[in-house]
Amino acid sequence: MKNLTGLCGVPACDINGLLDMAAGFKKKLAEPLPAFDATLHNRRIALVFFENSTRTRFSFEIAARYLGAGTLSFTTSGSSVSKGETLSDTIRNLEAMQVDAFVLRHSSSGAADFIAGITGKSVINAGDGSHEHPTQALLDIFTLREHFGKTAGLNIVILGDVLHSRVARSNIFGLQTLGANVALCSPTTLLPHDAAHLGVRLFTDLDQAIEWADAAIVLRLQLERASGGYLPSLEEYSAHYGLNDERLDKMRKHLLVLHPGPINREIEISNNVADRIQPPGYSKSMLLEQVTNGVAIRMAVLNTLLAV
Ligand code: CP
Repeated sequence: MKNLTGLCGVPACDINGLLDMAAGFKKKLAEPLPAFDATLHNRRIALVFFENSTRTRFSFEIAARYLGAGTLSFTTSGSSVSKGETLSDTIRNLEAMQVDAFVLRHSSSGAADFIAGITGKSVINAGDGSHEHPTQALLDIFTLREHFGKTAGLNIVILGDVLHSRVARSNIFGLQTLGANVALCSPTTLLPHDAAHLGVRLFTDLDQAIEWADAAIVLRLQLERASGGYLPSLEEYSAHYGLNDERLDKMRKHLLVLHPGPINREIEISNNVADRIQPPGYSKSMLLEQVTNGVAIRMAVLNTLLAV
């Protein structure tokens, strides 16, 4: 693997290889003073973020440092993008400074593949428009595999604003490759136009969807991308598609709850459900466990793509 721009078409052996490597890293990260081989010594990784990020940017930075790489952080504010410099010129100029890899987040779908086509360096997609966010899906799948001990045969519902979600697409591709059954649950206005061709089950009723599912990946309602017309009101969305205690408690089984973050509290997920840490066997929030797993997954991705 030289690039990771999406999970579409990535074979199961490669995904499982990354998950297995991440499991080894996670075990070490739990030690009091984790120490790792500096497999990325002398490597320079540019974290190029044209959109805001907390989890992805910081976890890539931590992951790179654990493996001995240097990082350069680029954000649009304070850069020459504000003077009109293009994405491709920005990347070419960073490449001229002998950067070894680009971790790229951009608002345009296809930006990571575009950059992979113009640079000889490795490109990792940290989220491009509503296209893909492969490392988020890998950490979600890792979290599911760790909890259930498998991925094949699991019923996973992706809930909410699928239309604007790059996380949803990467999870659909990755989970299906590993043999999970995937469903989408959303108002029809928030489904992508190709939903019927993604090989997924479709629900519009949330209670039916969570009764079917072993786990729900709840999506953030992307208020910044949804400029009107998709929903009658936030209150109505929350009433029909918000995951709350009442819904979980009336289920006849338990549900594992994931969310990529950041969360809109009391819109797509209630405070109680987001923070619900229950004993084993109860419906349970995995939100912070996902963030912890993100470091191990990003270490595995960087190591696989960049270690010589
Ligand atoms: N899940 C995720 O991509 O979060 P950030 O936007 O904070 O990176």
